[in-house]
Amino acid sequence: MLNLHKDHKNLVLLAFVVFVTLSIGVAIMPAYQMEEYQPIPGMKDLTVQERRGLSIFVSEGCVACHTQQVRNIEMDKMWGDRPSLASDYYYSKQRMDIWRQSPSLLGSERTGPDLTDIGNRQPSQDWHLLHLYNPRLVVEASVMPQYSWMFHTSDTSYVDSDAITLPQSITKMKGSDVVVASRDALDLIAYLKSLQQFSFEDYEPPMDFIPALPKEEEITTGGSKKSIGAGLYQSNCAACHQTNGRGVKGAFPPLAGSLIVNNKNPEMLIKIILMGYDAREEYGVMPALGENLTDEQIKAITDHERSSWGNNAAEVSLEMITRLRDSINSSKIQ
Ligand code: HEC
Ligand code: HEC
Repeated sequence: MLNLHKDHKNLVLLAFVVFVTLSIGVAIMPAYQMEEYQPIPGMKDLTVQERRGLSIFVSEGCVACHTQQVRNIEMDKMWGDRPSLASDYYYSKQRMDIWRQSPSLLGSERTGPDLTDIGNRQPSQDWHLLHLYNPRLVVEASVMPQYSWMFHTSDTSYVDSDAITLPQSITKMKGSDVVVASRDALDLIAYLKSLQQFSFEDYEPPMDFIPALPKEEEITTGGSKKSIGAGLYQSNCAACHQTNGRGVKGAFPPLAGSLIVNNKNPEMLIKIILMGYDAREEYGVMPALGENLTDEQIKAITDHERSSWGNNAAEVSLEMITRLRDSINSSKIQ
């Protein structure tokens, strides 16, 4: 048996092995998994100015009071239209350099409001300038510290578009002086305004040589079945699950090779389309699409999914879709 009281070599060795094992589990493996995450298609990267603003946000410690994460719970609904996804952070979490991972800005304290969507909630440059200079100028009871050192005074002979108009009683300035924002302040505000939660509803995936949307009568009269299914998939599902069915790691699961899509019994697949789906933490929430699609359209989509990207399952019966929709509707009424 190992007697660690007397055996200093093994004591050190044991401590070292525990250290390495924990480092792999707590730091290296998660970092490795993060590498696989993909950006949400259509989401914009930060500009050079916004990225500078991000580093000022970090160095000023704004994260101490502000979160940037919409959790999947009722009380977070006011901070965004949907819960945050790993892919939302793709661009802001780029490595700083080979040695340093970017610091996490998810935050854990919400002394001030969550900033996930502040760019949409408060797009006014003037508001941000005043608020940063002294939060109490725009929010009377604010406890946020003032960042007035990011501004300097200048006389009016130097008229600058970044000057902010302030009552002289507040700034205690003489005569014709104005307050002018520094580059840091402007960069920080550019970053704050870039914080806009990406909306899937406004996003149209590129059409990748897929035929245009089939018209209503084409569906009822048959038409080219394959192209109808592909077109409907493209306009209703591809924004999230992608044209190639592979999904987006960190946001949307793949449908290529999915057990649910390929299942002999397509009941779950149909229910997911009709009722939406929110089963796993690592993915976002799929909205219910039953209202937007007729039974025939759902059949065209499911048949397309079950016969594309290497998937190989039988066609879905229209009766089953109608039956499931009826049973869902009748359970809603009760
Ligand atoms: C001590 C905590 C604290 C720190 C540090 C802090 N804030 Fe705030 N922040 C608040 C509080 C409280 C509010 C809500 C009152 C208000 O609007 O001023 C707020 C509000 C805001 C708002 C408006 C949010 C909204 O929904 O209207 C923005 C933008 C903001 N802060 C940005 C920043 C930036 C940028 C920094 C770093 C330079 C920072 N905050 C540092 C506490 C803080
Ligand atoms: C707004 C984005 C979005 C759209 C649009 C969307 N989905 Fe989804 N879908 C998701 C998310 C997110 C999940 C995973 C939910 C979870 O597991 O928590 C999912 C899961 C699924 C699954 C389960 C896959 C599996 O193997 O776990 C199927 C099947 C599916 N969707 C089919 C469709 C079909 C068919 C359409 C179009 C009619 C569609 N989805 C449109 C976001 C979307």
